Amino acid sequence: MAAKQKSVYVCSSCGYESPRWNGRCPECGEWNTFTEEVQTAPPSGGGRNAPSAAYAPELLRMEPIHQVSTTDEVRYTTEIPELDRVLGGGIVKGSLLLLGGDPGIGKSTLLLQICQHLRPDLTILYVSGEESKRQIKLRADRLGVTNPNLYLKTETDIDAICTTVEQNRPDLVMIDSIQTMNCPGLSSSPGSVSQVRECTNRLLRCAKSQEIPILIVGHVNKDGAIAGPKVLEHIVDAVLHFEGERNMSYRILRAIKNRYGSTNEIGVFEMGDHGLIQVENPSLTLLMERPSGVSGVTVACAMEGTRPILAEIQALVTRSALSSPRRMTTGVNANMASLLIAVLEKRLGAPFSHLDVYVNVVGGLRIDEPAVGLSLVLALLSGVRDVPVDEHIVAIGEVGLAGEVRSVSQVEARIAESAKLGFTRCIIPRQNISSLSSPEKYGIQLIGIRSIWELIDILEPGKAGK
Ligand code: TYD
Ligand code: MG
Repeated sequence: MAAKQKSVYVCSSCGYESPRWNGRCPECGEWNTFTEEVQTAPPSGGGRNAPSAAYAPELLRMEPIHQVSTTDEVRYTTEIPELDRVLGGGIVKGSLLLLGGDPGIGKSTLLLQICQHLRPDLTILYVSGEESKRQIKLRADRLGVTNPNLYLKTETDIDAICTTVEQNRPDLVMIDSIQTMNCPGLSSSPGSVSQVRECTNRLLRCAKSQEIPILIVGHVNKDGAIAGPKVLEHIVDAVLHFEGERNMSYRILRAIKNRYGSTNEIGVFEMGDHGLIQVENPSLTLLMERPSGVSGVTVACAMEGTRPILAEIQALVTRSALSSPRRMTTGVNANMASLLIAVLEKRLGAPFSHLDVYVNVVGGLRIDEPAVGLSLVLALLSGVRDVPVDEHIVAIGEVGLAGEVRSVSQVEARIAESAKLGFTRCIIPRQNISSLSSPEKYGIQLIGIRSIWELIDILEPGKAGK
């Protein structure tokens, strides 16, 4: 008897299924995302409804938590420290990792570079559904990848790939990309929600049963979500996101989800002629081209995981020709910027209502931490008063609605990084100063402030109140 077929409409944004076509998805609210997919009833696996008596007793055993061993977690370090940091110390055996990012951002390049840096005795299978073996070889030559244990396969049939993995048992598998993979049992086209989901599920089973880590590349759609459904992110163990402006050379690797480590860490890379180069001291690189003696420019210190990163914030404040002035931000949250502009207007009487404000964080970095509020206020104040900030100053602190400066976490790491990069004055919340054990040891002058009012005196000594 032929398998029963049924048509369903699936939202390509969130994976919501409906028997009818909808203009707008009732689940995620996106418009025009429904595509028709034909579902074939899955082959009956039996067992699901089988009586419990059918199971062998060892299958029904429960394990006390203290008997569970944690010492056998094996990690393969990639020997690319910026990547290992984001992964939480390397690739865990049997894990399923998803590497997402815009087309052309450097995902395939990163995979090939991992192949070169990984321990030489590990065999790697690189499966590509996008490029020919020759193309991959040419790129590998350009990147200087000479690992003899790297095997290539150009295949899109997911069952063929899983069988190859089971029979050859490589130590690491790379799938480039999940949107090109195809599950023969499904009638929908590759890249559709059901294909992506089913292919990932099969890879998950393969990774867990064979204890082989699998790294999957996933393209990102125009909204920045992993193309294919969100459900993909739920299936895998870790989601890494490769971001950055395509026309800028910096690339930031960020963990969005990680079952084996922290999600705060970032890795910074630069795309060069021979692939991705690690940027070990991003602060130094980000501050390299800082203009001096220009108003509206200052330096913020944001924590990315355990690492402090100093970044240049620019605020351009100009007279507006519009009835409602423009507020544009890149790299900081637009709401935070609007809120701080309102605080400056109310508490310090800064005349923003007829001024356009453009805020930018240099280098394509996103710093959305509240602790960068004080530096943003300083940049805006400098912009509106047209007075440059001393270029040796870093400001750290959160600003409240009353204009008060609130204490921030990990202040010692932030101060130490600022001192290391040659800054001589650091404005920090007064509350934080009292918690420091020995403020002198950093070799940087610490200026503790309670309110943004005190910034005026730092910006223009002797002019407070004017
Ligand atoms: P790629 O890894 O193919 O991107 P993805 O797999 O994410 O789609 O990267 C392609 C881009 O990187 C392409 O625009 C060329 C650039 N590139 C370099 O600048 N230098 C290099 O050494 C390589 C390999 C690529
Ligand atoms: Mg690619």
